Formats: sequence, C-alpha cells, structure tokens
Amino acid sequence: MKREATERSHYLVMDSITLFFLFSAFFTASAQQIQSNVSRGSSLTPTTNSTWLSRSGLYAFGFYKEGNGYAVGIFMAGIPEKTVVWTANRDDPPVSRNATLLFASDGRLVLQMGQEQVAVVAESSGSASASMLNSGNFVIYNSDQGIIWQSFGHPTDTLLPSQRLVAGQGLFSSISDTQHSTGIFLLTMQGDGNLVQYPADDISVATAYFATSAGGLGDNVTLNFDADGHLYLLNATGFNIITNLTNGGYPTEDTIYLMRLDADGIFRIYSHHLKQKGNWSIEWQSSNDACRPKGLCGLNGFCVLNDQKAGCACLPGFDMVQQGNWTAGCERNFDVNSCKSNNGDIKYNMQEVSNTTWEDVSYSVLTRPDKDSCAQACLADCNCEAVLFKGRTCRKQRLPLRYGRRQISDTDTALIKVTHTNDTIKAGKLPRTRDSESQRHGGYGS
Ligand SMILES: *[C@@H]1O[C@H](CO)[C@@H](O)[C@H](O)[C@H]1NC(C)=O
Ligand SMILES: *[C@@H]1O[C@H](CO)[C@@H](O)[C@H](O)[C@H]1NC(C)=O
Ligand SMILES: *[C@@H]1O[C@H](CO)[C@@H](O)[C@H](O)[C@H]1NC(C)=O
Ligand SMILES: *[C@@H]1O[C@H](CO)[C@@H](O)[C@H](O)[C@H]1NC(C)=O
Ligand SMILES: *[C@@H]1O[C@H](CO)[C@@H](O)[C@H](O)[C@H]1NC(C)=O
Repeated sequence: MKREATERSHYLVMDSITLFFLFSAFFTASAQQIQSNVSRGSSLTPTTNSTWLSRSGLYAFGFYKEGNGYAVGIFMAGIPEKTVVWTANRDDPPVSRNATLLFASDGRLVLQMGQEQVAVVAESSGSASASMLNSGNFVIYNSDQGIIWQSFGHPTDTLLPSQRLVAGQGLFSSISDTQHSTGIFLLTMQGDGNLVQYPADDISVATAYFATSAGGLGDNVTLNFDADGHLYLLNATGFNIITNLTNGGYPTEDTIYLMRLDADGIFRIYSHHLKQKGNWSIEWQSSNDACRPKGLCGLNGFCVLNDQKAGCACLPGFDMVQQGNWTAGCERNFDVNSCKSNNGDIKYNMQEVSNTTWEDVSYSVLTRPDKDSCAQACLADCNCEAVLFKGRTCRKQRLPLRYGRRQISDTDTALIKVTHTNDTIKAGKLPRTRDSESQRHGGYGS
C-alpha cells in the first residue's frame, strides 16, 4: 500500500490547539519528573527510566510490556488502563529486559540489543531533538525545530484527536487487545476519496465490508478526528466536509477520545473520563453487526451471532486448524485422497448448513429443481466439494469457502461433501475485543 507524505504544517497547527486543550482541560503539573524535550544521547531501558513522558503526563513514549518481553511505542501512562496507541516495528518480536532504546548522538533512534541495532524510525538524517507532545504525537525535530518525523504520520491501529489519515494511508487492526502486531483487518483512506474496510490479506472491491460511499469523491480526501469525537472526511480543500461518520459534540471536559480499528474488524470511538475510575466506553462503532467483518472466522469457518456477539463454527466435517484461534480457520478432519472407491461407489454424503452466506467461488453454475438434485450433482463430480443452492441455482464450489456467516433471510443453503459420519455443528466463542460497557451512540449501518 502506498503511503504518502503527510502534511506537516497541518499537524503543527493542530498540535498546538490540542496541547492547549489538554493542558487547560485536565492537567495541572504532575509531580512526576517529566522530560518532554529529548536530546541526542538520551536512552531508555525497559526496567529503569523506561519512557519519555509528555508534559501533561498523559502520554509516554518508550517501553511497555508486551507478551513475554517489551515493545517500543506510545501509550497512555496517565490513566490506570495503560492504553497503547502506537507501536514501533509492530511485527518484530518483543525484546528482552536488557534492550536499550537510544537516541544516538548521530540522531538515529534505535533499539539496541547486544551488538544488534534496529531502527525505530526510518527518517533520521539531521535530527537534533525529539518530543512527546501532549497530543500523543511523538515528534523528531531538526536543529531548526522543523519536523523530520512524527508518529502521527505513521498510524498503526489508532487515531488520536487531531491525527488524520491522508489518501493512501490506513489503519491495520492488531491481533488482539494485548498483542499489537498486525492483525487481519484494514481501514484505508483510498485515493478515490472512499474510506473502505477490507480483510487485510485480500483488498478488492468484492471483499470490502464497509465503505463511506461508492467512490468518486476526488483526490486527497482525508479522514479527520477531533477532540470532541467528530470523525469526518474532508475534501482536498481541507475545509469542506464530505461525510460525517459522527457529528461530534461529545462532552470534552475531563474526557479524552480515541478512534481504533479493533481486532474484531470494527472501528470504534472510545471515551475515557479522566477523573472517574473505570475504563474506556464505546461512543460509536462502524457497525452493530459483529459478524460483518469478512474473515473473522477464517477459511471454512462461518460467523454465528449469539446475543449480538460473534461466534464461529466450522463446516461439517471440519475441525479448527489451531485451537483457540479462529483466524487460522478450519480444515477437513478426514482424508480426501480418492473421491470414488474402486467399484465406483460414491463414498460421500452431502451435509446441509442452512441459512448461511458465503463468498461465491463457483466454477460451475447449474439449474436444479431442488437442493437434493443439487447435492447429487456435487456427489457425482470429484472436483466438487460444496454447493450453494438458492432458488433453482446450484453453484458448485471448491474449497476453501470464505467469509461465511449465518443469516436468516435471503440466504443460501450450503451443502458440504462429508464422509458418512454425521457431524453436528458447534459454534465457539471468539475472544472479546474489550469488555465493552454501554454503547451510547448508534452505529453506522447495521
Ligand atoms: C530541546 O533542547 C535542546 C537542547 O537543550 C534545544 O536546543 C531545543 O531547542 C529544545 N527543543 C525544544 C522543542 O524545546
Ligand atoms: C539479553 O538477554 C538475553 C535473554 O534474556 C540474553 O540471551 C542475551 O545474552 C542478553 N544480552 C546481553 C547483551 O546481555
Ligand atoms: C470541495 O468541496 C467544495 C464544497 O462542496 C467544492 O466547492 C470544492 O470544489 C471541493 N474541492 C475539491 C478539490 O474537491
Ligand atoms: C457534520 O458535522 C458537523 C459538526 O457537527 C456539522 O457542523 C455539519 O453540519 C455536519 N455536516 C453534515 C453534512 O451533516
Ligand atoms: C492465529 O492464526 C493466524 C493464521 O494462521 C496467525 O497468523 C496468528 O498469529 C494466530 N494467532 C495467534 C494468537 O496465535
């Protein structure tokens, strides 16, 4: 995916607004020792002096615990729930406690492990100082205070107020709440002006599961997020609102907001009240349908809603590839080495999975009066592994089947080739993204 240069002047203006806002709204000077201007030669380690804090004390850049080690990133240090909003080199494995983050005397920001050094930011030429701003933006400056690099220009799964996505940029979900490496969903601000969600491993028109419009809104549209929860698209002028995802206007006193593409494929605006105990509340979400994100249940799995929550099930004759991980999908629990036995007898049955929809990957479309004759057509064809039947249309499929979900109306009956056993389908739970509290505002679509 193409990542275009960010418009830096805009960030500067927005930073100072947010800085002022954060400052006046909720933070008097913290008693902690705060260093927001980081000079070359400074360093951090996971166990002592592990972060550089923003002046407000809310944001920290540095080490946080991840898995059985530490990652480098930005998190909210000033609240009880240490929320991670950005991760450096998110797909690198966690580092051990003896790693060092070094703002080297030559201006490079590197993670040092023994003799090995890994760059934390790619652009470093001419860097003189760095700062964890009150907006949550970590910025590297040259000696003229010009911005060389900023975390706001390289989002991972989260947008903070005043941060935006420019055309060509996107957010990738994390694997889970606690594992911040790249997950399976993408939200991207396309060059055609459309904000679209895809499964990250297959970006095509047919796989999109969320879009703000049919496209054609022009170049250089941006996704913007303000301190009052306003989430909207601006056209190239930078002033004209094309689409409001939320109208904003949420209370801002002592309250902070973030927007995140969650591991379950839905993007949400969360609020956190700084003076009340408790965690993040959902203010808005891109869909109220937990089964909408495509690929949630992996290959040969399908999504089943249960009390608004998404669960997954395998096709009959299939088992989970990896226990506890639906992303890995389902695989046949028997051998399909020969389709027919020597005497020509058919060894298989067709088992029905009703009220489901799937991606249609048919290699042959037949007209059949009923599902039994559709099933017979599949049994008689060694290449056929499943059929989708609706009306009088019988569509032969090869495996794997993707993007399956149970749906009550206007759906297919899927018939899956199985051995003579009769499997029952059990739906298993997906890990919850977040112990979500009350959702106060409506979703986009359903
Ligand atoms: C950070 O400190 C350096 C050295 O003291 C100084 O030259 C620079 O202007 C400061 N930068 C900021 C952003 O305050
Ligand atoms: C850092 O720790 C790891 C394991 O915790 C160890 O293998 C490695 O030798 C250590 N490196 C240094 C430079 O101490
Ligand atoms: C932005 O929107 C305004 C108002 O709809 C319109 O007049 C203007 O031509 C648009 N500019 C671009 C570059 O699309
Ligand atoms: C979008 O939201 C803003 C802020 O609430 C509001 O001023 C504007 O009228 C809204 N525009 C549309 C098209 O709904
Ligand atoms: C789940 O499986 C996927 C696909 O095989 C893999 O990429 C991912 O790392 C696994 N997740 C966990 C938590 O093991």
